[in-house]
Amino acid sequence: MILLLAGTAEARRLAEALARRGIPAMASLAGVTRAPAPLPLPTRIGGFGGDAGLAAFLDAHPVRAVIDATHPFAARITARVHAVCGRRGLPLLRLERAPWGPGEGRISVADEAEAIGLIPPDAVVLLTTGRQSLPAWAGLRAARVHLRVIDPPDPGAAPFPFPGGWEVARPPFTEAAERATLRRLGVTHLVAKDSGGEEGRTKLDAARALGIPVLLIRRPPVPPGLATVATVEDALAWAEALPVLPGPSVAVPRP
Ligand SMILES: NC(=O)c1ccc[n+]([C@@H]2O[C@H](COP(=O)([O-])OP(=O)(O)OC[C@H]3O[C@@H](n4cnc5c(N)ncnc54)[C@H](OP(=O)(O)O)[C@@H]3O)[C@@H](O)[C@H]2O)c1
Repeated sequence: MILLLAGTAEARRLAEALARRGIPAMASLAGVTRAPAPLPLPTRIGGFGGDAGLAAFLDAHPVRAVIDATHPFAARITARVHAVCGRRGLPLLRLERAPWGPGEGRISVADEAEAIGLIPPDAVVLLTTGRQSLPAWAGLRAARVHLRVIDPPDPGAAPFPFPGGWEVARPPFTEAAERATLRRLGVTHLVAKDSGGEEGRTKLDAARALGIPVLLIRRPPVPPGLATVATVEDALAWAEALPVLPGPSVAVPRP
């Protein structure tokens, strides 16, 4: 079977295509989102437990190929699966959508630190860089900061460290909805990761329409030598060209 490392819209579409074609596969989610929408494949949830955990998982399951369709910024799992598959001679494909890249009103930055240096102290900032990015924003000085998250913070979580607050909302967002959010919060600077894809692009279009600058954080590099495609269709073609995969998919509880 194929092990599909999921957690993106593309992984979902690929899971649907694999299921439709009856290609034996199992999906894997990191477990960072509290109630992920179920995928149409048997799905395991949670980290593997480092290199050794991933190797043990591959020993215990009839995995004949891996497709890494995790987020373009999920650099740790991508590096790990590349190294582990390389050692085992296991076919691996990275599915990574094209970046948005430079554009009108977008300022490309290497990381949060560079973005902090470009944000004036009277700014109202909407961060769409994910909950896990919060420590990297520690040095940010702004009039207000809003950090968009899918799930509300745990009741016992530390208070939000800036004037402003969590902006709890579940994607996808239309461009009109993004414009309404930017206006409601009075945002003067939007910060985003260069994730690429149509779904997340609406915030860039909304910011451009309102004349709000976007600080766009560049992606981490893809490990050298990792076979990469940018579309679900190309990933599916790769999967279909694999030698016949033993099936059926391993039964694991659905989320
Ligand atoms: N980074 C983002 O901006 C972003 C945005 C949207 C969605 N996501 C999704 O959220 C997940 C975590 O992202 P991240 O940035 O924390 O990644 P990361 O830093 O590369 O990975 C952190 C750890 O999460 C576990 N992990 C990640 N993806 C996994 C998967 N599909 N199945 C099982 N374990 C997984 C691994 O734990 P072990 O070491 O225990 O194996 C990994 O070491 C990814 O699947 C990614 O696609 C990330």
